[in-house]
Amino acid sequence: MTLYRARVLDTPDDAWPDDGDGLRAGDDVGLVVDDGVITERGPFADVRATHPGEAVIDLRDGWLLPGLVDTHVHYPQVRVIGALGMPLLEWLDRCALPEEQRLAAPAYAAEVASEFVGSLVAAGTTTALVFGSHYPGAVDALFTEAARFGLRVTSGLVVSDRVLPEPLLVTPEQAHADAVALAQRWHGTGRARYAVTPRFSLSAGDAMLESCGGVLADVPDAWFTSHVNENPAEVAEVARLFPDCDHYVDSYDRFGLLSQRAVLAHDVHPMDAELACLAARGTAVAHCPSSNSALGSGLFPLRRHLEHGVQVALGSDVGAGTGFSMFKEGLHAYFVQGLLGADGVALTPGRLLHLATRAGALALGLGDEVGDLSVGRQFDAVCLRPPGGTALDIGLRHADSPEEALGKIFALAGDADVADVWVGGDQISSGGLSRPLRRP
Ligand code: GUN
Ligand code: ZN
Repeated sequence: MTLYRARVLDTPDDAWPDDGDGLRAGDDVGLVVDDGVITERGPFADVRATHPGEAVIDLRDGWLLPGLVDTHVHYPQVRVIGALGMPLLEWLDRCALPEEQRLAAPAYAAEVASEFVGSLVAAGTTTALVFGSHYPGAVDALFTEAARFGLRVTSGLVVSDRVLPEPLLVTPEQAHADAVALAQRWHGTGRARYAVTPRFSLSAGDAMLESCGGVLADVPDAWFTSHVNENPAEVAEVARLFPDCDHYVDSYDRFGLLSQRAVLAHDVHPMDAELACLAARGTAVAHCPSSNSALGSGLFPLRRHLEHGVQVALGSDVGAGTGFSMFKEGLHAYFVQGLLGADGVALTPGRLLHLATRAGALALGLGDEVGDLSVGRQFDAVCLRPPGGTALDIGLRHADSPEEALGKIFALAGDADVADVWVGGDQISSGGLSRPLRRP
């Protein structure tokens, strides 16, 4: 067992009551971690009294937070981050899809997988729903690399049978066979889980979506993820391609793809009927604010999602999103809600932390395991320790309250401040990306 002593910020409770945001702050907390699980938590002096002889790992020079959860991030797009100035469909054509075709080469895919997983670790992301590759070998490379660090990755083969460049297309039959074979190798292997992943219904016709339903039937407890309602031109094209569907969400729902084990990314332009459907199915939405701004997709209607009872978490949406930092995504989410004025939701620092941790864990069905630092959870955590003299270091030293400190973290924290990262009690990074522990 290990005894940690730390300043801890986490959000185990409801983030949306009228009179608060669920932030729990402990100035001098003792955490006992046994076999990767938090078994005791309390004031350090109390925990110490029951373990007088135990060595203490003292983290009070930093701030301990739950490991961050990214509910929508594209592994093959790590090298195309930062291509600004295009709307979705043009960006796909000119930037994302040419790069994604390069992952057909195994050596290229292995390099990108290593860069991608290293970037997650550097950002302090310990759990992620990852949009995979169109190529099975590249999906194997991702799961292999994630397993080296023990990251909690849910991912799968991206499938499409129309509209995209020909090298990215596959028949529904082949897609089914490849997906089931990948799921047999990875679903439930270590911390990996399989996600059935049509790119979006714009690029997946009826037969392909039916084949996706077949994979869900053949792989018990598999997950489902895709895109929805991101961009007005995309929404209009999906309506044209599915004349019998009530709306975009219906293009997935009528094939039985939506459930509590499904996450749809974006949903910037939903109808009320779509929100009602998502709520009824228990399907979560990954809000990807930096991507929505970078592609000019629109301002996310968080209030309408919450009013309909739709679960919302955060996604970086790398590479349309502008980086892996969930702190940056939180800050962008805050900006967007501010821009919405009276239609926006007041995103306090506690709510931002909730969106970046506990909400993601709940959206991914991992709420009993990760997302906060309560007794019974896995010890997935990050310790932020900004380099001396940086604005974050100065700000944190002068913060008068935990809320203020957390606001500074969301305003200023980046990869350089993520000093230590643990997954399931194992430390996988110490001192940031410059000293990762599990790399050759
Ligand atoms: N819709 C279909 N594919 C993509 C993608 O790669 N990124 C984003 N943001 N939206 C998509
Ligand atoms: Zn995406």
